[in-house]
Amino acid sequence: MAILSIDQGTTGTTCMIYDRTGAVLARAYRELTQHYPQAGWVEHDPEEIWRTVVECVTEARRAYAGPVEAVGITNQRETTVVWDRRSGQPVHRAIVWQCRRTAELCNRYRADEEAIRAKTGLPLDAYFSATKIRWILDVHPEADPSNLLFGTIDTWLVWKLTGGRVHATDLTNASRTLLFDIHERRWSSDLCELFGVPESMLPQARPSMGGFGAVCAIPALDGVPVAAVAGDQQAALFGQCCFAPGSVKNTYGTGCFMMMNTGAECVRSAHGLLTTLALDGAGRACYAVEGSVFIGGAVMQWLRDGLQLIRSAAESEAIARSVESNGGVWLVPAFVGLGAPHWNMETRGTITGLTRGSSRAHIVRAALESIAYQSHDVFRAMVADTGFTPQSLTVDGGAVSNAFLMQFQADLLGVPVHRPRNIESTSLGAACLAGLEAGVWRSADELRTLNEVERVFTPAMPEAERAALLAGWQKALRQTLAS
Ligand code: G3P
Repeated sequence: MAILSIDQGTTGTTCMIYDRTGAVLARAYRELTQHYPQAGWVEHDPEEIWRTVVECVTEARRAYAGPVEAVGITNQRETTVVWDRRSGQPVHRAIVWQCRRTAELCNRYRADEEAIRAKTGLPLDAYFSATKIRWILDVHPEADPSNLLFGTIDTWLVWKLTGGRVHATDLTNASRTLLFDIHERRWSSDLCELFGVPESMLPQARPSMGGFGAVCAIPALDGVPVAAVAGDQQAALFGQCCFAPGSVKNTYGTGCFMMMNTGAECVRSAHGLLTTLALDGAGRACYAVEGSVFIGGAVMQWLRDGLQLIRSAAESEAIARSVESNGGVWLVPAFVGLGAPHWNMETRGTITGLTRGSSRAHIVRAALESIAYQSHDVFRAMVADTGFTPQSLTVDGGAVSNAFLMQFQADLLGVPVHRPRNIESTSLGAACLAGLEAGVWRSADELRTLNEVERVFTPAMPEAERAALLAGWQKALRQTLAS
């Protein structure tokens, strides 16, 4: 009995096949081309996204050709595709969640900002799908909206996998569009009217676990049901078994995405977090709060490609450990502004505290530390907003293999950091949802056995040192925001 999961992320597509013990039977990955047509604009080619899925699935099935019970899909959220229902051709390249092209357009709707937040749990921002759809409709007046379909990447993939038979999304992805009422759990006619998005374009919003049709477009998976769909951060929360209200995970990728399950309670943040739909231990919709840090692991790419201070991200750990402290150097990687909890689009990055004694190692260390400081700030916002005091933080994503970073994170938070053996919790989460639906696994308890903790990082920093470091970070942040 095996489950195949497709994780279509911002930088690439991963396909993994798991057996019922959670062991990985096959894995395939393809990178995705990033298009930057103007400063601050980011696009993907939807046909290339589909090709990477076909290639990954086919390669994984060559490595494991045994029976597959079900497929689970997880995806970069918010990224918007609009296509013609008759030809299946996208009318424009996909507009990626990171794309800022509709920042100005958002101002058109400012008067309704509060009403939008009350219904959707989201701030009015270019990050989400609604203004991206509006933009595509505006620049393609030749396309008749009654022939157009909208989808986030999950919807596009389900449509392609099922040969155009199913046009559907799941509740977690729908909750990121600015068009979905998270209380009523349905598309909001008022918001569709406000943004001028015809309801005929919208996919059916379905529970994350359940029918999304059967694959007919990839021979290696012919007839296999698509049993589950979830946005990538919600899938990671599920894969990390954060089923109980108050449990929290942080995914360290290009950015950092922290999410806390709040159960039946729809918490409205007073500290710059989003309210969104996530999943409980049975795969049913529940609420969560989320904080996004825009630059996490990407600061390492910048040290490598921009400054050429390191040859690989892996090298950063040894370099950071080669000095006893950051030497008074602080790096605030506000390269594209700051996300949660500050939400400042205009500010830009700084390095402060430089002296003649500052070395490459201090800057590398300050860069790594900045990932943990930013995550710390989101964690504190979550505690303040929800009243929950988590006893641990579960972590996943590529950068968690850096033990220096994980220890520093535990030291700053004052709670243990749990690193799982399979750090690809997003992919595992999608597989768990599909496997639960297909009956491969039967309960949340059984899923817990799949998510084995590999290492616990226990806080060890004296309180005075922690307080001094946090004060230093706050000062650097103030300087950054003031500059
Ligand atoms: O909200 C955007 C998020 O879903 C993207 O995640 O892992 O593809 O960078 P990732």
